Amino acid sequence: MNIIDYLRISLIDRCNFRCQYCMPEGTELDYILQQELLSHSELLTLLKEVFIPVGFRKFRLTGGEPLLRPGVVDLVRAIAAIPETEDLAMTTNGFRLASMAQDLYDAGLRRINISLDSLNPDTFDKIIGNRGKSRWQQTWLGIQTAHQVGFDPLKLNIVVIPGINDTEVLDLAALTINRRWHVRFIEFMPIGNSKLFGDRAWIPSVELRQEIRDRFGLTESTIRGNGPADIFQIPGALGTLGFISQMSECFCDRCNRMRLSADGWLRPCLLNETGQIDLKTALRSGVNLAELREKVKQLIGIKSEINFKERDSGTTTGNYSRTMSQIGG
Ligand code: GTP
Ligand code: 5AD
Ligand code: SF4
Repeated sequence: MNIIDYLRISLIDRCNFRCQYCMPEGTELDYILQQELLSHSELLTLLKEVFIPVGFRKFRLTGGEPLLRPGVVDLVRAIAAIPETEDLAMTTNGFRLASMAQDLYDAGLRRINISLDSLNPDTFDKIIGNRGKSRWQQTWLGIQTAHQVGFDPLKLNIVVIPGINDTEVLDLAALTINRRWHVRFIEFMPIGNSKLFGDRAWIPSVELRQEIRDRFGLTESTIRGNGPADIFQIPGALGTLGFISQMSECFCDRCNRMRLSADGWLRPCLLNETGQIDLKTALRSGVNLAELREKVKQLIGIKSEINFKERDSGTTTGNYSRTMSQIGG
């Protein structure tokens, strides 16, 4: 059985982008009301009194867009200061990073994953839902600032969309040659409100690898992350290339994570809500924390069964009705 020690914490379900594969413009979302969000103190109580005692040590802050959460820097500082925190990371769209990267770093954040689906401002704008072409520049500035501030590793996430940004795979891969950046190509998942872009929704990672191998050469890296990516390297490159292949392969049997939604639901899997626990309601009704710890332990037990079912079905299956912005990437 895998050790489940990694909690992905969604801080907010709202976002300042409208990525076509996540929450395209015009799709109505019932946002979580302010009073239904876990407060900072509730979240910290859950971490210290429930998650850490049952073995969680790695935390990733996600969204929606986590940098929209008021007080996020203070929250980072508080989580980083918990002695048992071994790893604290964030997944962001990078739009607010130029002004926030230094404060986040000073507060104790060290690992950051940023979405960058295109190097072309027009294509980028099309993917993020026509929010204005200057958004690419702002995001790119955010990435450069995070680099200068010292975030390491710095990972760039690219959801590969056939006919939109698949022509840029070599240019994006080349970013790793002279920079210690980790560029990850993600198979597009037809989840939630994502709009499909034509006949072919996603491209298997193996095809992208072949294209990169033909141009630059490619070796399997000795580096093994703690996530779902298979890691490779262009010979002599400073950075690495990751391939996240949730559609063509099933990595459920090596899954080490659970997810906490912004309104306090603990879910065992991105796509499976079996046994989910409403931690916020429990906390607000004054539940005994020892009881909560027991419930979470039970869910950890159920999780390995869920993961093996997913693995046996050959690919990731499950509930695709909620968006990544709601589940927390
Ligand atoms: P690290 O390796 O710790 O940096 O994390 P990560 O790669 O898991 O983090 P990130 O938030 O950047 O996730 C990248 C993408 O991986 C997500 O957008 C998803 O597409 C995919 N992913 C992450 N976790 C899961 C999971 O549990 N199941 C599935 N099917 N996909 C996942
Ligand atoms: N398929 C694959 N990845 C997705 N993300 C959001 N929606 C999808 C989807 N439908 C990714 C983003 C970002 C992370 C938060 O989730 O690219 O890296
Ligand atoms: Fe926002 Fe991330 Fe969803 Fe894009 S993928 S709309 S940046 S939450």
